[in-house]
Amino acid sequence: MEVTAKIAPSMLSSDFANLASEAQRMLNSGADWLHMDIMDGHFVPNLTIGAPVIESLRKHTKAYLDCHLMVTNPIDYVEPMGKAGASGFTFHVEASKDNWQELIQRIKSLGMRPGVALKPGTPIGDVFPLVEAETPVEMVLVMTVAPGFGGQKFMPEMMDKVRILRKKYPSLDIEVDGGLGPSTIEMAASAGANCVVAGSSVFGAPEPAEVISLLRNSVQKAQQKC
Ligand code: DX5
Ligand code: ZN
Repeated sequence: MEVTAKIAPSMLSSDFANLASEAQRMLNSGADWLHMDIMDGHFVPNLTIGAPVIESLRKHTKAYLDCHLMVTNPIDYVEPMGKAGASGFTFHVEASKDNWQELIQRIKSLGMRPGVALKPGTPIGDVFPLVEAETPVEMVLVMTVAPGFGGQKFMPEMMDKVRILRKKYPSLDIEVDGGLGPSTIEMAASAGANCVVAGSSVFGAPEPAEVISLLRNSVQKAQQKC
């Protein structure tokens, strides 16, 4: 089974005061998913949005809300996020060492798609048990910057993690997040990533649709080569 390209603009780079229209602008520009960065000011040194904002946005769009939880206690967020209308719930492996099994089950029982993210310093082997579990995660998000802020520089050395994952799990959704744009997408796409988060490169472009389509074409071209 071939995994499909999903381009997910990071709403962290949007004008939060106009979130609904910014979301619609991205969907009109060809976005597949909307990437929502939930930060608690503890797991990462930044504070963004939570379930109330997801709930408000959900009233304006049916889009897939790809929620990335950069929080210390992800289990506490499952019910509020599920009720708010989140589509994907991606928690950090570093914050779920003891309870990832329960976490995955709760995420699924609230109708969301479970994913796991890992920071640049975390070895890739830490996520294998979650992908191979009886109730597995359905996506792995490989951070290509230190989580916390948009607009940072892509870390090419993270591509080894993507290559290892793609070789081991041909039909897994593999997402890359941080510093992705026209100058870095080739590296990520050829390593095997199929879900691409892009904040500053999309929102900073005069024509976001052109960047979204370039990102998608790179993923599809790399897939044809293998
Ligand atoms: C960083 C977030 C990213 C961020 C990406 O912690 O997880 O989703 O918004 O932004 P860019 O694409 O600007 O690096
Ligand atoms: Zn993110």
